[in-house]
Amino acid sequence: MPTLNEIRSTFLNYFAKQGHEIVPSSPLVPRNDPTLMFANSGMVQFKNLFTGVETRDYKRATTAQKCVRAGGKHNDLDNVGYTARHHTFFEMLGNFSFGDYFKSEAIPFAWELVTKELDIPKDKLLVTVYHTDDDAANMWKKVAGLSDDRIIRIATNDNFWMMGPTGPCGPCTEIFYDHGKSFWGGPPGSPEEDGDRFIEIWNLVFMQHEQFEDGSKTDLPNQSIDTGMGIERVAALLQGTNDNYSTDLIRSLIEASAHATSSDPDGPGKTHHRVIADHLRSTSFLIADGVMPSNDGRGYVLRRIMRRAMRHAHLLGSQDPVMHRLVPALVQQMSAAYPELSQAQALIEETLLQEETRFKQTLDRGLKLLDDEVAGLGDGDALPGEAAFKLYDTYGFPVDLTRLICEERQLELDEAGFEVCMEAQRNKARESARFQTAQIEWKEMEVGPHSRFIGYNSYNVETWIRRFAQNESGQWLFTLDTTPFY
Ligand code: ALA
Repeated sequence: MPTLNEIRSTFLNYFAKQGHEIVPSSPLVPRNDPTLMFANSGMVQFKNLFTGVETRDYKRATTAQKCVRAGGKHNDLDNVGYTARHHTFFEMLGNFSFGDYFKSEAIPFAWELVTKELDIPKDKLLVTVYHTDDDAANMWKKVAGLSDDRIIRIATNDNFWMMGPTGPCGPCTEIFYDHGKSFWGGPPGSPEEDGDRFIEIWNLVFMQHEQFEDGSKTDLPNQSIDTGMGIERVAALLQGTNDNYSTDLIRSLIEASAHATSSDPDGPGKTHHRVIADHLRSTSFLIADGVMPSNDGRGYVLRRIMRRAMRHAHLLGSQDPVMHRLVPALVQQMSAAYPELSQAQALIEETLLQEETRFKQTLDRGLKLLDDEVAGLGDGDALPGEAAFKLYDTYGFPVDLTRLICEERQLELDEAGFEVCMEAQRNKARESARFQTAQIEWKEMEVGPHSRFIGYNSYNVETWIRRFAQNESGQWLFTLDTTPFY
């Protein structure tokens, strides 16, 4: 039974043999894309190669990419721990062609890897293609010998992959694995497709177009390939399970959580361990990539994930901080593939410890406030938005944590009321920011247009200051002539 680490190597080595450059995962914080919160697929670091803005000295690449989906378009946070396949952190294996090979090579590569290298039985596999893509359908027939009923045509966006509202996109073909009759579910395109029986394992995108903000699409300068295989899903099927959380790597984190909280990994606290194992991965990798918990942007997403994990540890009865004690188990499993994890181990442990210690100070008081509020509610009343706001503002409860606790108590939350309070606070912040900018007096050294941005190509530059100022809190602000910073 191959381990997850072995599957990763098999994939990368196979494509290396086929002339692909093994490129390290990009950081979770995208360098070249301010529209994206976190890398959420392998192609993110190659976006500009698909659009032709950038070229490199290779035309074929393969990667194991760290991905976080916990905010924005792809947001899986609320399902994590409760289902077999939702994660905030996961790895996507991919092979890429930048104007080099296209469908007629991508499909045979995928089939050979799946059936020969990974040895997945052919009769358990079926594929989908975009409904108008006869080329792909014919190729599957020829290369894999699949019968027509195993090549399913899909007319929806499920088989037309888009990075987001804008960016490179194209029709795709997906490979599915049939876990067998003992699981409920139907093939893709059927009303039961969301069941646990037929699971997508690999998506091959035929990158052909670029989508723009006004809804228009143009053809890309070259036809390219972008693929994404969910390593946790493949590990599950190769290890004879339907549940990603039972695979070797994640299971070892669940056991570490059980050990640290002296509880049964498969007992009544099972879901808590699953959430903790998942959140340990996303928080540690985010910190290793330079994100720190804070009250806005990426830092706030991190804080929400951390506090959620801490709440689950609390529900397991832990009185002392737990999360930082689990980091060595993660480092042991994943730092050979991602050395940044061991390099940042001390920072990760310290950050988790500090955040958990701080949150523990307010968690009990916040829960007490919640109890008092709930005691005052009548039958069918929702938790008032002001209470949720106070929990957020004074006790540091991200609203999704409050929502989770409400769900546990089968209580509605007045989301609209909460939003009203949040908006009022945002307005106040905007007012005060306006006031502060008004106070800033810039000293101009050289008048000119916006700074020249070079961050796509380089992070080092010798440049000069065009103007500077000091703000209310004594911080110095500079405008540089040329800058690698967004
Ligand atoms: N970019 C494609 C995906 O995320 C492969 O599914």
